Amino acid sequence: QLPEKAKIIEVGPRDGLQNEKNFVPTEVKKVFIGSLKDAGIKEMELTSFVSPKWVSQMGDAAEIVADCLDGNTRNIVLAPNKKGIERVYMTNCKAVAVFVGVSNTFNQKNINKTTAESLAEVLPLISELKAKDYFVRACISTAFYCPYEGKIAEDDVLALCGEFVKAGVDELSVADTIGMAAPHESYSLFSRLIDAYPDVLMTAHFHDTRKLALSNILSALQAGVTRFDTSAGGLGGCPFAPGAAGNAATEDVVYMLERMGIKTGVDLDKLTQAIEVIQPHISRPIESSYFKLNSVN
Ligand code: HMG
Ligand code: MG
Repeated sequence: QLPEKAKIIEVGPRDGLQNEKNFVPTEVKKVFIGSLKDAGIKEMELTSFVSPKWVSQMGDAAEIVADCLDGNTRNIVLAPNKKGIERVYMTNCKAVAVFVGVSNTFNQKNINKTTAESLAEVLPLISELKAKDYFVRACISTAFYCPYEGKIAEDDVLALCGEFVKAGVDELSVADTIGMAAPHESYSLFSRLIDAYPDVLMTAHFHDTRKLALSNILSALQAGVTRFDTSAGGLGGCPFAPGAAGNAATEDVVYMLERMGIKTGVDLDKLTQAIEVIQPHISRPIESSYFKLNSVN
């Protein structure tokens, strides 16, 4: 039984741009974000409060947040640690995403801590955020495969997610960081997660390295997931996950869902225009099928 509606969580301004070597001017990012909202995006990762020494592209996070909280949209920012959350507290943003890898090696490469050390730091911060009435999302990286450790056990993902559920998160975004999952693995993990944690919002985050993101999304949908992190233009990738390509392209996912009769509320013409805003500033071609067929460029 497929749902009538699905939610797109647009991650283009964050995941989509963080791997882009050339600095995208802050004003362009703001127009991009605004045009995504015009296209009907209701939840979006705007930027991340990480160290600009590690990811210089996100160095303008405070400026982005200062100008982009408008609209009838859940505006989410990423923060990996106490310093990041302190920076969030200096803004009016009310939705935060923490991120932790199931794989220790990946977590160390990404945020310079073991998974256990990261948990020890962020779980109390989550309680504090909830006490202050923030929306909290936990992004679970390397939930299928790790570029360093290989296949990840489902039980380990379930256990880590359980820690976040206990801490009171509103949402889990469970990620195939390097795009190695296959549809049966997507179906299996998401079935178990939904069964184990029915009271949190469950979101699937697929990178498209091996062109299986759409298939994995369909499998997750069949397992009961109705929320998908996607990136306009299929941009994205994690700088600390070698071999990670972009996210599932928002326009291809919206096209598939709408063709299946599942409403997303996203206007594909306006989404195409939003991608045309960012396209001249991106160093690689936009490869999504929908964009290639429909862009005027
Ligand atoms: P570190 O070097 O271990 O940090 O980096 P530290 O705690 O030792 O502090 C060193 C300096 O950094 C200090 O400044 C801190 O104040 C500063 P100094 O005293 O030298 O002047 N610092 C910060 N500055 C700004 N914002 C902060 C912050 N924290 C410390 N939040 C750190 C640790 C976590 C900061 C670093 O490793 C980092 O920034 N990592 C971010 C990596 C990243 O952005 N990865 C991509 C996002 S996750 C992702 O893409 C996966 C996802 O899409 C899901 C999926 O696909 O898997 C979500
Ligand atoms: Mg990602």
